[in-house]
Amino acid sequence: MIIAIDGPAASGKGTLAKRIAAHFGLHHLDTGLLYRAVARDVQRLGAALDDAERAAAAARALDPAELDDPDLRKPGAGEAASIVARIPQVRAALLEFQRSFARRPPGAVLDGRDIGTAVCPDADVKIYVTATPEVRAERRFLEMQGRGEAATYEGVLADIRRRDQRDASRDTAPMRSADDAFLLDTSNLDIEAAFDTAVGVILRKAGQRGRA
Ligand code: DC
Repeated sequence: MIIAIDGPAASGKGTLAKRIAAHFGLHHLDTGLLYRAVARDVQRLGAALDDAERAAAAARALDPAELDDPDLRKPGAGEAASIVARIPQVRAALLEFQRSFARRPPGAVLDGRDIGTAVCPDADVKIYVTATPEVRAERRFLEMQGRGEAATYEGVLADIRRRDQRDASRDTAPMRSADDAFLLDTSNLDIEAAFDTAVGVILRKAGQRGRA
């Protein structure tokens, strides 16, 4: 069973993916961490984030064991990741790792921007999680405030809009919903309601496959 969960920054897809994986006993991969780690490694080399050659080399040399670095969760790391993610050679270098992760028994939940469209176009279930930029900014702002980080709502909203624009407009594997994805708009849903809806979608799909 492969479950693809895509969506924009701060849509809640990561929390949802983690809970779905735990609920169904599947592996979970936050694919954004791969791009965040590539950006970190490029910056460690002192290279520019849009240096395609150095970024592709960093992606090929990426050590998946180094993904639990807490610095990768910081907002600046997401912005940097979005820049290296535009480079086609970076995306190509990360593709096989993601696909082989998805094939690990008994199955996996992958969350990102292009899982349903490019990484696992044959996923058993695809969910595209979204919410208005204002709602996402509000959630992210409250999270940051809770951690005592300096932020303003307007600043967070501007960052979200810029990242959406960059991720959706790149040439290779842009962020978009697969045609066969279930669209889960969480603008008016809390995490419990979003989780219940997603579980319902997965069980329905699994039932359909069982009958096919
Ligand atoms: O999901 P996230 O915020 O951790 O992702 C950080 C950036 O990485 C995102 O802005 C674009 C890029 N990304 C991508 O291009 N494709 C993915 N499957 C996941 C993330």
